[in-house]
Amino acid sequence: MSTEVPPSLDDVRLRLSRLRERAEREVAAAPDAAALGALEVKFLGKKGELTGVLRALSALPPADRPRIGEEANRLKEALLGSIESRRAAIEEAALASSLAEEAFDVTVPPAAVPGATLGPKGHLHPLVAIQYRIEDIFVALGFSVMDGPEVETEFHNFEALNIPAHHPARDNQDTYWLEGGALLRTHTSPVQIRMMLEHRPPIRAIMPGRVFRREAIDASHENTFYQVEGLVIDEGISIANLISIMKTFLREVFGRDVTVRLRPGYFPFVEPGFELDIFCVFCEGRGCPVCKRSGWVEFLGCGLVHPEVLKHGRIDPERWSGFAFGMGLNRLAMLIYGIDDIRHFLAGDLRFLRQF
Ligand code: PHE
Repeated sequence: MSTEVPPSLDDVRLRLSRLRERAEREVAAAPDAAALGALEVKFLGKKGELTGVLRALSALPPADRPRIGEEANRLKEALLGSIESRRAAIEEAALASSLAEEAFDVTVPPAAVPGATLGPKGHLHPLVAIQYRIEDIFVALGFSVMDGPEVETEFHNFEALNIPAHHPARDNQDTYWLEGGALLRTHTSPVQIRMMLEHRPPIRAIMPGRVFRREAIDASHENTFYQVEGLVIDEGISIANLISIMKTFLREVFGRDVTVRLRPGYFPFVEPGFELDIFCVFCEGRGCPVCKRSGWVEFLGCGLVHPEVLKHGRIDPERWSGFAFGMGLNRLAMLIYGIDDIRHFLAGDLRFLRQF
């Protein structure tokens, strides 16, 4: 049994108000979140000082207990509020000081990157530069520039181009097949089909893009390269139109007249089909490694669009005719810049790229 004199209502009130004063002072002085947490435990925790004061309640007359209980609750709420606002103030101050420390001046020029040259930062990859040049030339001739997907259907890449399954022409374009029968397009010609299905003639468009073939890689073969497809469909289109557009294009791209020759060439989606060679721009026909001493460089495949292909594109071959061509962008870039190995393009070697 305790021998203490039971506290009176006023005693308890006094103890509560002193507790509150002390707690408020300590909270206001708490330096950080950890100190605040400790104060919360010290004053309001299960074994904290408030609980200690309230233990005396049981000694009070039952009629007084609810009033003290109420006051104790108010004290608790008030103290929790103070702790919360102190916590917010501490966080705000911490944020402000870290912002002040970390602030940086965005107008200060960056430190030099070792090995970087002065002058404009970055430039076009030679393939992109050539692609833009080709686009400009054809746009000036009234062509539009269209895109197609790199993941294609067998229909667009082969069937609709008159290359059914087991056709020997498929062997020339060894294919990366994907799950579910899709494939990586082996040429840009499937975009011809998309063009025909989506636009009514007359059509005049070029379609640049990346293509993929399962090739053994060497200085003149890559499994990933770039082509530009061309398609013109109108009434009365003939080989003369094809030759004239090709000559105009070559004059623009090489900056002078280029002699060309057409040889019969077989592509199932054109009839007649041709290989277009250009007179070697390096040795003027005297014979050099680029033209393999022949004086001529194979440049592109072309021909008049096969009537079956027009039909696949839902275009009436009785009324419309057209020509198509497909050229290798890598080959053209190699000719223009004198690059001797196709593997340079995708190797990502800065010593190569910085030359352009
Ligand atoms: N698609 C053919 C190839 O990749 C090139 C070509 C395009 C030939 C259009 C004729 C007409 O070899």
